[in-house]
Amino acid sequence: MPRIAVIGGSGVYSLDFIENPEKKKINTRFGESPEIIIGEVGGKEVAFMPRHGEGHSEPPHKINFRANLWSLKKLEVERVIATTAVGSLNSDFEPGEFVLLDQFLDFTKSRSSTFYDGDDDAVVHVDMTEPYCPELRNVLFEMGENLDIEVHREGTYVCTEGPRFETAAEIRIFRELGADVVGMTNVPESVLARELEMCYSTVSIVTNLAAGISEEKLTHKEVKEIMEENIRNVKELVFSSIPNIPGERSCSCKNALKGAKVET
Ligand code: HPA
Repeated sequence: MPRIAVIGGSGVYSLDFIENPEKKKINTRFGESPEIIIGEVGGKEVAFMPRHGEGHSEPPHKINFRANLWSLKKLEVERVIATTAVGSLNSDFEPGEFVLLDQFLDFTKSRSSTFYDGDDDAVVHVDMTEPYCPELRNVLFEMGENLDIEVHREGTYVCTEGPRFETAAEIRIFRELGADVVGMTNVPESVLARELEMCYSTVSIVTNLAAGISEEKLTHKEVKEIMEENIRNVKELVFSSIPNIPGERSCSCKNALKGAKVET
């Protein structure tokens, strides 16, 4: 049975809901994955991966995204629900609220963001018009309504390189460009999932107002505290959604590589 993966971001390091849990590290040609917990949720096969590794040891710019995603592929994962902590640039998105992303802006600088590096591999230009799976997003949104959790259906994420937070001027520009929330990890994670024809969706948890919008100095302590306050809801939203994910995929994510390869 194809699996559903949950990639846990800052503050989401474990899963209490997984039945028959088993721990595994997977080797790939890009390196080793963090420890993954494999088991079941509501009759579905599930894999949980802490994005930053054990004890949050990897900073965002050093995460081995290719090893992470390739190892999920080896576990026959077809769908990914990711969680991310984000700062808000949009006055409608308050700390403690959740946002289901539908677009991103990429301001990363030094990351390996493709499995197709030329050389021996094919050259591939994958379509990212709609970077997040609409089917998974709908399931998550409906579950948010059922559970009475404040979930915004759409939002544009700007991905920065980190690990520093942004300047006030950067945030002003990102706002002009249409960003609603800011974080450091959704690119290239979402891009690599697409290259593997996986469905990918993100629940962003607003942990702070972005730089310059908040009068306060930004600290990871603040991010951590808001995550801790909301962790129960994050896990409940994600894990109640899993049994409602349809068996067959009706979105176009599974055909992402059709027509994407450069033929000579
Ligand atoms: N900026 C970047 N990443 C973040 C933020 C932020 O304000 N909050 C949580 N992750």
